[in-house]
Amino acid sequence: MYMLTVDFALVLTFRLEAAIRIPLGYWAVDLLDYEPYVSGQYTYLVRAVQWAKELGLNVMIDLHGAPGSQNGWEETGLVGPIGFVDNSSNSDRSLNVLRNLTAEFTQAMYGGAVTNIELLNEPIFANAALRTFYTAGADVVGPANSSGINVTIHDAFYNPPTWANYDPHNANAQTPGKFLTLDTHQFWAFPPLDKLPEAQILQRICDFAAALKLNNTGIPPTLVGEWSLSTGITANSSSNTEQDQTKRTWFRKLFEAQNAAYSPQKAGQPSIGWYFWSWQTEYDIDAWSYRRGLADGYIPSNISDPSTYAFPVLDNGCIDDTFSYVAAVSVSGLGPSSTGSSGSSSATSTGGSSAATTTGSSSSPSSASSSSSTAKSSAPAGMTIPGGLWVSALGVTSVLLFCLC
Ligand SMILES: *[C@@H]1O[C@H](CO)[C@@H](O)[C@H](O)[C@H]1NC(C)=O
Ligand SMILES: *[C@@H]1O[C@H](CO)[C@@H](O)[C@H](O)[C@H]1NC(C)=O
Ligand SMILES: *[C@@H]1O[C@H](CO)[C@@H](O)[C@H](O)[C@H]1NC(C)=O
Ligand SMILES: *[C@@H]1O[C@H](CO)[C@@H](O)[C@H](O)[C@H]1NC(C)=O
Ligand SMILES: *[C@@H]1O[C@H](CO)[C@@H](O)[C@H](O)[C@H]1NC(C)=O
Ligand SMILES: *[C@@H]1O[C@H](CO)[C@@H](O)[C@H](O)[C@H]1NC(C)=O
Ligand SMILES: *[C@@H]1O[C@H](CO)[C@@H](O)[C@H](O)[C@H]1NC(C)=O
Repeated sequence: MYMLTVDFALVLTFRLEAAIRIPLGYWAVDLLDYEPYVSGQYTYLVRAVQWAKELGLNVMIDLHGAPGSQNGWEETGLVGPIGFVDNSSNSDRSLNVLRNLTAEFTQAMYGGAVTNIELLNEPIFANAALRTFYTAGADVVGPANSSGINVTIHDAFYNPPTWANYDPHNANAQTPGKFLTLDTHQFWAFPPLDKLPEAQILQRICDFAAALKLNNTGIPPTLVGEWSLSTGITANSSSNTEQDQTKRTWFRKLFEAQNAAYSPQKAGQPSIGWYFWSWQTEYDIDAWSYRRGLADGYIPSNISDPSTYAFPVLDNGCIDDTFSYVAAVSVSGLGPSSTGSSGSSSATSTGGSSAATTTGSSSSPSSASSSSSTAKSSAPAGMTIPGGLWVSALGVTSVLLFCLC
């Protein structure tokens, strides 16, 4: 786990209806003596939501790390066995976190900035136990619909059609539950998909789009809550390949194919938008950093403005990938992958290093792009827009949403 900065104001510059997804480890709310996590992040979660409210950004909070681990991956804060279901106290503790988030962010002072609470990120334990937890979670978060918060469930990698007509309160439902939103993650970075040829990736994206663009499927409103440009694990790369024209050409095509696929085209479709993972990474690794993509030109300069897109979008929701496009020969870009690294060395979650810290200007040495400063200068009166936010304070990585809902 590492620290990231999110420049909320810059996010806002590029999307009319922008939102962020904030991943949260349970230990932000409930930390036992023997658990090795840093605490103190809740204050910064609150601050993040307050900033979002001031800027008109929507927020999804997702329970990214649950006690025992819901998938055994490092993103949960505990690598190894999937221990979530082994001890019923793990479920109880998770529900208490959800209860806390619901009680906290339905308060009037937050102005409805939180629109989604995701019960559990990427769970991969038995389906029956999962559905039991989802029903219990919907009991906790569901009543917040009257405050504008939707219950959000991850598809647990079963894919959206599996959740057609899912209602956590009615096993025989013929329509999906109200105020229920589905989150699906689409990555080409991990085995066995990481070795697919480019043409096959584009075809699969297009096929996925078709499923999300059908009417009357019973699939709940669906967000692609995580996706990136990685087609292989690039966990850490500090080499600067930003002048690689071939790579930038491919990234642009891959970005626009996914944008088209994951964005709603017409009313009545399950798809309601997407979040890119992530806004910024420790070294702004190209495939995972939206802000590097903007700077290097392989992400359209204004996602709200289709005239900045390169590829035509076809009626079926796929891009015309035969369209001839070549990226610029060179870019000024972000420069060597050094941004965001300051401070990151102290960011291990288990080491007892200092907890949440807001960044000063030193935190993002080369991120002071002109658009960033423009955005800052348009802050609401009386509000100080920070240089960034250490989201690792919240436990895990941060994600940016450009929601098209
Ligand atoms: C279950 O987890 C709790 C902490 O969440 C712990 O106190 C308890 O000892 C655990 N029970 C078993 C049987 O492991
Ligand atoms: C949620 O938990 C945090 C951290 O313990 C606490 O500061 C906050 O008051 C709690 N909110 C509610 C509504 O219980
Ligand atoms: C919506 O909120 C109301 C009022 O809190 C609650 O009675 C109802 O059960 C909620 N609906 C769902 C689908 O959770
Ligand atoms: C919230 O739920 C409503 C009602 O089911 C749905 O129309 C809307 O698209 C959802 N929005 C989000 C952002 O989850
Ligand atoms: C990632 O790369 C940077 C720069 O080369 C290096 O300082 C750091 O130790 C690497 N981190 C890991 C976990 O390999
Ligand atoms: C899907 O339904 C919406 C109304 O809910 C309608 O506007 C749209 O034309 C329909 N699309 C198709 C392909 O039937
Ligand atoms: C992006 O495009 C939208 C829609 O055309 C526009 O309203 C907005 O001002 C643009 N943002 C920037 C930073 O140019």
